[in-house]
Amino acid sequence: MSKQIKKWSGRFDEPVNKLVQIFTASVDFDKRLALYDIKGSLAHAEMLNKQKIITNSDFKKIQLGLNKIQNLVINNEFIWSVDDEDVHLNIEKKLTQLIGEAGKKLHTGRSRNDQVATDLRLFLRDVTDEVIEKIIQLQKSIISFAKKNADVFMPGLTHLQIAQPISFAHHLMAYYEMLERDKRRFFDSKKRINQLPLGAAALAGTSYPIDRKWVAKKLKFDGLCENSIDAVSDRDFAIEFLFDASLLMTHLSRLSEELIMWMSPFFGFIEIADSFCTGSSIMPQKKNPDVPELIRGKVARVNGNLMALLTLMKSQPLAYNKDNQEDKEPVFDSADTIVDSLEIYAALIKSIKVNKKIMLKYAGDGFSTATDLADYLVKKGLPFRTSHEIVAEIVNYAVKSKVHLHEIQMSEFKKYSNKIDDDVYEVLTVLGSVTARDHIGATSPKQILQAIKKAEINLRKKLS
Ligand code: ARG
Repeated sequence: MSKQIKKWSGRFDEPVNKLVQIFTASVDFDKRLALYDIKGSLAHAEMLNKQKIITNSDFKKIQLGLNKIQNLVINNEFIWSVDDEDVHLNIEKKLTQLIGEAGKKLHTGRSRNDQVATDLRLFLRDVTDEVIEKIIQLQKSIISFAKKNADVFMPGLTHLQIAQPISFAHHLMAYYEMLERDKRRFFDSKKRINQLPLGAAALAGTSYPIDRKWVAKKLKFDGLCENSIDAVSDRDFAIEFLFDASLLMTHLSRLSEELIMWMSPFFGFIEIADSFCTGSSIMPQKKNPDVPELIRGKVARVNGNLMALLTLMKSQPLAYNKDNQEDKEPVFDSADTIVDSLEIYAALIKSIKVNKKIMLKYAGDGFSTATDLADYLVKKGLPFRTSHEIVAEIVNYAVKSKVHLHEIQMSEFKKYSNKIDDDVYEVLTVLGSVTARDHIGATSPKQILQAIKKAEINLRKKLS
C-alpha cells in the first residue's frame, strides 16, 4: 500500500515524476463532467447489482456514497486533486474514503475509456438541448423584430451594391431560416451523440454478464455503440457538434457583420441600444458595436476548436489513446461560446431601433427598380433581352442626367420605347417593386407576413 500512489501505480517501481503527473492530469477541466460521471456510475452500479455481480449491500453503499459526492460537487465542496489525475479517479477515491471496500467494486466491468466517452456524450446531449432552446429564443426575437418592422423597406444588395428594394422583415427572416437549419442540424447530431459506449470497457468488452441495454435505458440513451473498439475510440459525435457550432457561429457572424455595417454612419440604418455598446477610452464621441464585433471574432475560436478535434482524431490508431483527453476543452469552449452568443443576441435584437426613412431612401436609390422597368416592358410584349437593353440605355441616361428613374419625363421615356406609358410610374416606386414580388419566398409584405405566421406555427411544433 505504501507505494500505491495512484490507482494504477502497483505496476510501477518508482513514483511518477511530478511534472508528468501534472502534465497528464485532466481534473482541472474534466471536473466539469462530475455530475455526468456520477450519473453514469449510479446506473452502472445498479446494473452490476441487478446482474448479481455486486451484492445488494455493496450497491446500497455505493449509491449512498455517490449521492454524498454529488451533493459535495453541487455545493462546490468537493476537493479536487491533481494527484488523482482526472474526474473519474477523484470521485472513485472519494467514494472509497466514504464507504470503504465497497467503493473499490464500482469499477468492475468498466474502464475509464468507456466511462469518459459516456460522460462526454451525456454532457453533449444536455448542451445540445440547451443550444436548441437558445436558438429558438433567438428565432423568436428575430420574428418579433421582423413583425414590428413589417412596413420597413431597404435596399437589397448584391456585391454590396444596391440591387433591388426589399422588405426589411424579409431580410431578417433569412436569418430565421439559417437558424432553423442550424437547430435541425443539432437535433440530428443528437441522435448520434445519444448512443451508449459503456460496457465497451477498455476496448474489448468485459467477461462479466453485464446488461448494456438496461444501462442505456436507465440513462435514456437511444441505443448502444455496437462495436466496443469504436465505442471507446471515436469522437465523431463531438466533432459533429463542433461543426454544427461552427456553422451556427458563421451565420451569427454574418448577422454581426451586417449589424456593424448598418450601425456605421455610412449606412445609418439602425441604432443598437447603449446597454449593448461600449465607448472608447480616448474618443469621447464613440459608441461601438462591440457585441457583434466580438461574436464575429469568436468564430475564430469555434472554428479552431473544430480543427483541433479533427486533427486530434486523424492519426490515432484504434482504440483509445490518451490524445483523446484533449477533446474536452475545445468542446467546452465551443459549447460556452455558442450558448452565450445566442443568449446575448436574443436580447440585443430586441434593443435595435430602425431608421425607417434612411432605409427607404436608399431602397429607391441606385436605380433599384430598373428590373421592374424591364419586367414592365416584357409584360408589354418585348422579349426580356431586348427590354434589358432598352432599360440599360435609360439607366445610362438617368446616370448622366442625375435623376431617379421615376423622375424621367414621359416624353424622354418614349424616345427609348413607345411601349412605356403613364402606368410605368407606379412600377418604379419602392412600394410598387416590393409589392409586385408576390409569391412564396419573395419580398412582398403580404408574403413576409405569411412567412412570419408560418414560422410562428413551426416554432410551436415539437422538433422531429
Ligand atoms: N482522463 C482521460 C481522458 O480524458 C480518461 C480516460 C483515461 N484512460 C486511460 N486509459 N488512461 O480521456
